[in-house]
Amino acid sequence: MTATILAGGAAENCPVFIVFFSQSCSTRLQFSDYQGKQGMDSLDQLVIEAKKAFTDAGDAAELENVKARYLGKAGVIPAQMKSLQQLELKERRERGAVVNAAKAQIEAALTERREALAMAEVEAKLSAEAIDVTLPGRGRGRGSIHPVMKTWERVEKIFGSIGFDIAEGPELEDDWNNFTSLNNPENHPARSMQDTFYVDARDRDGKLLLLRTHTSPMQVRYATGRDIPIKVIAPGRTYRVDSSATHSPMFHQFEGLWIDEAVSFADLKGVYLNFVRAFFETDDLEIRFRPSYFPFTEPSAEVDIAFGSGPLKGRWLEVCGAGQVHPVVLGNMGIDPEKHVGFAFGSGLERLAMLRYGIHDLRLFFEGDLKFLKQFS
Ligand code: DAH
Repeated sequence: MTATILAGGAAENCPVFIVFFSQSCSTRLQFSDYQGKQGMDSLDQLVIEAKKAFTDAGDAAELENVKARYLGKAGVIPAQMKSLQQLELKERRERGAVVNAAKAQIEAALTERREALAMAEVEAKLSAEAIDVTLPGRGRGRGSIHPVMKTWERVEKIFGSIGFDIAEGPELEDDWNNFTSLNNPENHPARSMQDTFYVDARDRDGKLLLLRTHTSPMQVRYATGRDIPIKVIAPGRTYRVDSSATHSPMFHQFEGLWIDEAVSFADLKGVYLNFVRAFFETDDLEIRFRPSYFPFTEPSAEVDIAFGSGPLKGRWLEVCGAGQVHPVVLGNMGIDPEKHVGFAFGSGLERLAMLRYGIHDLRLFFEGDLKFLKQFS
């Protein structure tokens, strides 16, 4: 034996094959030197070691370093290839096939590990950027109709069912419609009953525009030029310089108007009683008229209701201003007060909503507190 192969002396799982040639070596390395059991085991061992080293490489850069030890220019497999040159043709072929097979196995293991690492990298990236579908979504909370709007809709529905038209008018009003046409001329003391938001703009007569203080302007607006009979309600926003548990600078009213040849207080009472009974869903409810004053009605009344049961049982609660339409107002509508008569009424939507839902502070409607509002969804 002229050469010795020391197999498997390895640092870091890296088998090192060192071939010592004796000084006097003149013969070529014989294939039989490798063919012994030890030689075959060495290559098998090499493949096993390489596979393990690849598996142990934790990332692509480390893997490429490990690869160099086996397949790189100075690696074990090229050294094995080189050593084939010293073999006889037949042996070289046989031995070459064995080395090639080992090389192919190592390359396959390398490719496999490369793919696994690449896959792991993609997976790590994906899970880092992952959307946790089990988290509750941010969602679009479902809104609901505001209790005042619910009341508005309810009022429209009830009056609609007994043949009243629905009308809406401007919130920015002129002096004529808000006051003068309603028999409430300038300097009339009744004007001071309503503290008014004036706007820095004027109407055709040079008078300041204002945020309407009530829905009554809809009486003249709606009735002017219209055929009789007239039956209408006009709900909407109204404004006054007022703020307390029962007053808000912005609030809602609905106006009612019925003009015909012969309508009376009995009709007004019948209509309003029907309305409150439908609205509060009870017939166990009474109504009364108290004399009052409004410039646009004569006679005028406040309408009170009293429940026969429930938490408000027996208390008279004011819910409406009403009266027979004043002849001056009919004249301003272009209607002959000698031929036609009518009645009008006006109620606050917040007031009705508060009674219906048992709310004690009107400001709750406009604070936007979801805990409050969600109770009506
Ligand atoms: N407009 C009055 C107010 O805001 C309410 C009112 C009273 C309306 C009598 C009417 C009515 O139609 O006849 O206080």
